[in-house]
Amino acid sequence: MIPINLPKIGEEEVEAVVKVLRDGPLTNALGAGPMVTEFEKKFAAFANVKHAVAVNTGTAALHMAIVAAGVKQGDEVILPSFTFVATAEAVVMAGGKPVFVDIDPETYTISPVAIEKAITRKTTAIVPVDLYGLPVDIKPIREIAAEHGLAIVEDAAQAHGATYGGKSAGAFADAACWSLYASKNITTGEGGVVTTDDDELAEKLRMLRTHGEKAKYSSLMLGYNYRMSEIQAAIGVVQLGKLPSFAAKRRENAQRLTESLRKTEKLQLPHEPKGCRHSWYLYTVRFKNSTEDERNKVVAELKNKGIGAEVYYANPVHLMPFYRDSFGKRELPETEKAAKQVFSLPVHPGVTEEQADYIAATLLQLL
Ligand SMILES: Cc1ncc(COP(=O)(O)O)c(C=O)c1O
Repeated sequence: MIPINLPKIGEEEVEAVVKVLRDGPLTNALGAGPMVTEFEKKFAAFANVKHAVAVNTGTAALHMAIVAAGVKQGDEVILPSFTFVATAEAVVMAGGKPVFVDIDPETYTISPVAIEKAITRKTTAIVPVDLYGLPVDIKPIREIAAEHGLAIVEDAAQAHGATYGGKSAGAFADAACWSLYASKNITTGEGGVVTTDDDELAEKLRMLRTHGEKAKYSSLMLGYNYRMSEIQAAIGVVQLGKLPSFAAKRRENAQRLTESLRKTEKLQLPHEPKGCRHSWYLYTVRFKNSTEDERNKVVAELKNKGIGAEVYYANPVHLMPFYRDSFGKRELPETEKAAKQVFSLPVHPGVTEEQADYIAATLLQLL
């Protein structure tokens, strides 16, 4: 099976972990030992911002960033439903009420027009998502946020290596949240990072990460234990160094698929708007006209032929029982339509040229 994503770990990562295990320290009680500090410095440079705060998951990064952005109990937070559930979970964990809005059917990212319509006196933040690794069109969202005094916390969990206007994804938000989960473009097994240009926000994030402390046993605010270990950071430093080559290979595989799949009229291929670079976390295509059953049948047949095609996301968050029952029914026609028609194909750096050709040829044959 060619899996949809696969971590690429080499001897360098193994050696870096062994060195930390041999020499220590394994972690730091206030959040940043030498490896975490080095990883954060390198990640901030990569993300074109001043600060990176490393944590133990992407979900923790989102939760902490939404709290640091000032979201309080009962505040409304606007976000897409077409995302991984963690985006919404983090809003609820921070005490906010998720207000799900629709997407642009071409890019699958949140629609700025829909954001504007959803703003009320209770809205305090927007959480756009760089879905599949395509940076959200942040410029109009920035303008809306400035006009209404809202914070932007960008979910860049899938966007390592993506750019918008020549800068890293996330660089134009108040804070951006990254995941280092094993399926992501780079990984530390589990892990996450918040990036920001804002000195005050960064200081708050560092405290939230470790029990609200600047000094031990002296909490200044309610905090959490979201610390990244030195072991994870050691892997992160090596993976970050490899990211340019991983990103180039993903792009090459995506281009190869696009060249072949252009031959069919049946699919809408992924779109890379001008001024954006996709991270190609997922290469997602869409049936222009098909039922959910027909889509599911093609995905099942691809699997039978050894291709790990997957649907992200068949069940948008606003339709999940917990979110529907807690926050009310909403109709999001573009989201619901996309959820029935999309599916993703493997383009990770472990996919060879031959495998990319096999994926495209097999799909064309099934169509
Ligand atoms: C869009 C999105 N947001 C948030 C997350 C949560 O990250 P993690 O799994 O590291 O908690 C993920 C990845 O799993 C994701 O894909």
